[in-house]
Amino acid sequence: MTSAINEEVFVSFPNFETQRLLLRRFRLSDAERLFEIRSNFRVMRYMDTFPEPNIQAIRHKIQEMNLAFDLKLGLNWAIMDKQSDKMIGYFGIWRIEWDNCRGEIGYSLDPDYWGNGYMSEVFQTIIPFGFRQLNLHSMEANINPHNESSRKILLKHGFVKEAYFQENFFFDGQFLDSEIYSLLEKNFISRPNSHS
Ligand SMILES: CC(C)(COP(=O)(O)OP(=O)(O)OC[C@H]1O[C@@H](n2cnc3c(N)ncnc32)[C@H](O)[C@@H]1OP(=O)(O)O)[C@@H](O)C(=O)NCCC(=O)NCCS
Repeated sequence: MTSAINEEVFVSFPNFETQRLLLRRFRLSDAERLFEIRSNFRVMRYMDTFPEPNIQAIRHKIQEMNLAFDLKLGLNWAIMDKQSDKMIGYFGIWRIEWDNCRGEIGYSLDPDYWGNGYMSEVFQTIIPFGFRQLNLHSMEANINPHNESSRKILLKHGFVKEAYFQENFFFDGQFLDSEIYSLLEKNFISRPNSHS
């Protein structure tokens, strides 16, 4: 069987407009803002990766994210606040397994914008896109078990805990646990944009 991933999606980058946000392709000019977000301790606390050391490294990351789209291996959106035109975070279906029609998601918001439902607004847009347009069969998220806010948003949007790996990830001198969450297309229920 050939992959059911919808290749048409990769013809031109899918930008989205939600009630309060624009989701668009990254530009190199986003580097300073992305650097600011990824240098924030509260953002990076449970990411289990070191922040990029300088703007040059962030530019390289942006190029890699855009290249992933050109290679049809991932999609990464800059999250823009429509009112201020400020980048407030990012969301990626950053890895796509074509054989398994499975996408791994990753996301972050500037802490100044936490607790306003912004990331939920992104989930409500990108998850349906992933299933209905990209044709994924399932989506996955890998979190540090201490990352309560990440777990909370996944559960809120229908993801279920699928696995707990003990000390499977070595970072910064320590073996860390991981939790894997997933959402299958058949269990996906489109949720209204409500505050629950
Ligand atoms: C994970 C992360 C994106 C969640 O951000 P968030 O702002 O808590 O998520 P949401 O957009 O869903 O907002 C939910 C909160 O907004 C509140 N809210 C306010 N207005 C709302 C509205 N109109 N709609 C929905 N929720 C609203 C909710 O009550 C909820 O608050 P609560 O958590 O106190 O119950 C954020 O914590 C983050 O960037 N963390 C650091 C990076 C990270 O760890 N990323 C994940 C790696 S695996």
